Amino acid sequence: MDAYAAIRTKRDSRSYLARPLDEGVKRRILQAGRMAGSSTNRQPYRFIAIETAEQKEALSACGGFMRHVPQAAWVVAIAMPKEHTLFDAGRAAQNMMVAAWAEGIASCPVTTHDTEGTRFVLGLPDGLQVLHAVAFGYPPDPARVGVGRPRKPLAEIVHYERYGGARA
Ligand SMILES: Cc1cc2nc3c(=O)[nH]c(=O)nc-3n(C[C@H](O)[C@H](O)[C@H](O)COP(=O)(O)O)c2cc1C
Repeated sequence: MDAYAAIRTKRDSRSYLARPLDEGVKRRILQAGRMAGSSTNRQPYRFIAIETAEQKEALSACGGFMRHVPQAAWVVAIAMPKEHTLFDAGRAAQNMMVAAWAEGIASCPVTTHDTEGTRFVLGLPDGLQVLHAVAFGYPPDPARVGVGRPRKPLAEIVHYERYGGARA
């Protein structure tokens, strides 16, 4: 799958097979996250890789829309310094998800609450917070993953030269 096809067909999937991800795949996904560029190359993200049923269950209680997390084969929580832009976390997360999808592995980003509960579950040191994680797993029906919610047309999203500007 080329990069454009992977980006275009990658949709967020909340159903996963019980099949585990092998070590090579997990390493490539983490490498894809690690290779994301970051502001002034600070590489502020730290990835907490979660595999045990107990930890996935505990993490799923750390956000409002994480019921699918215990079914995921693997979850990566993204820890960031509190003052740092979340743009860098987003770049790392999308790199990981696209790299995974190119190997047929579905994923879904999830939002965790910045609470004492989340901090306790993940053992976070002071100064770091986790606001997002990504659940990964093989999809039951890969053909269905490409069917997500529709996107707005480009004409609604793209402006030229200035906000509201039309194409010359
Ligand atoms: C920053 C962010 C946070 C998200 N948090 C959650 C979440 O907590 N739970 C969830 O099920 N989906 C979550 N999503 C997934 C979105 O709902 C999904 O990207 C959107 O519905 C588009 O889905 P599609 O690509 O399958 O069309 C999140 C996505 C982003 C980008």
